[in-house]
Amino acid sequence: MIIGIVAVARNGAIGKDNKLPWHYSADLKFFKRTTMGNAVVMGSRTWESIKRPLPDRLNIVLSRSGDVTLPPEVRLIRSREELIELADELRSDVFVIGGASVFSSLKDVIEKWLVTYIPENVDDADTFLPDGLFDGFTVTDELDLGDDLLVRVFERQNRAS
Ligand SMILES: NC(=O)c1ccc[n+]([C@@H]2O[C@H](COP(=O)([O-])OP(=O)(O)OC[C@H]3O[C@@H](n4cnc5c(N)ncnc54)[C@H](OP(=O)(O)O)[C@@H]3O)[C@@H](O)[C@H]2O)c1
Repeated sequence: MIIGIVAVARNGAIGKDNKLPWHYSADLKFFKRTTMGNAVVMGSRTWESIKRPLPDRLNIVLSRSGDVTLPPEVRLIRSREELIELADELRSDVFVIGGASVFSSLKDVIEKWLVTYIPENVDDADTFLPDGLFDGFTVTDELDLGDDLLVRVFERQNRAS
């Protein structure tokens, strides 16, 4: 399954200066235990932000230009279509981990979202969650991570046949 995972501030912010504009270890632990053993796909800007493969996960970087330096164990994917083909071949789940442009590109193939609500506003953010990502989704679960952090699980409503 292709699953989106994101943390979002009250005002919709997800990034600032190509970084996460907060630090919540409970959310980082949630991210780690959820994605561990699976594949993670990220845009080239998010790769530039984290700069190293996330351990014990297949790391996939999306870049149209291919102008990105990657260690050999990280897969470079040049298009949405190539990612969809790879996801079909993999036995694991594929977590779409951001950023905003990758969430927009892959929104129609994401079947489920895990969204952490960060209990603050980020006034000077420069990257925001794109509109409409959860259209056609319904909340199926909620998890309390402590520290005022809430995770909502969104799953696609059955499409009319
Ligand atoms: N809060 C969170 O959960 C979270 C998660 C992740 C990231 N972030 C934040 O989000 C910000 C980065 O987001 P962003 O939107 O600027 O950048 P991004 O989505 O990480 O990367 C954008 C790049 O990805 C490539 N790309 C995007 N769609 C593609 C497609 N369909 N096919 C091929 N390549 C594609 C392009 O690379 P090329 O230019 O190389 O062609 C594009 O320039 C940072 O501040 C980061 O910290 C937040």
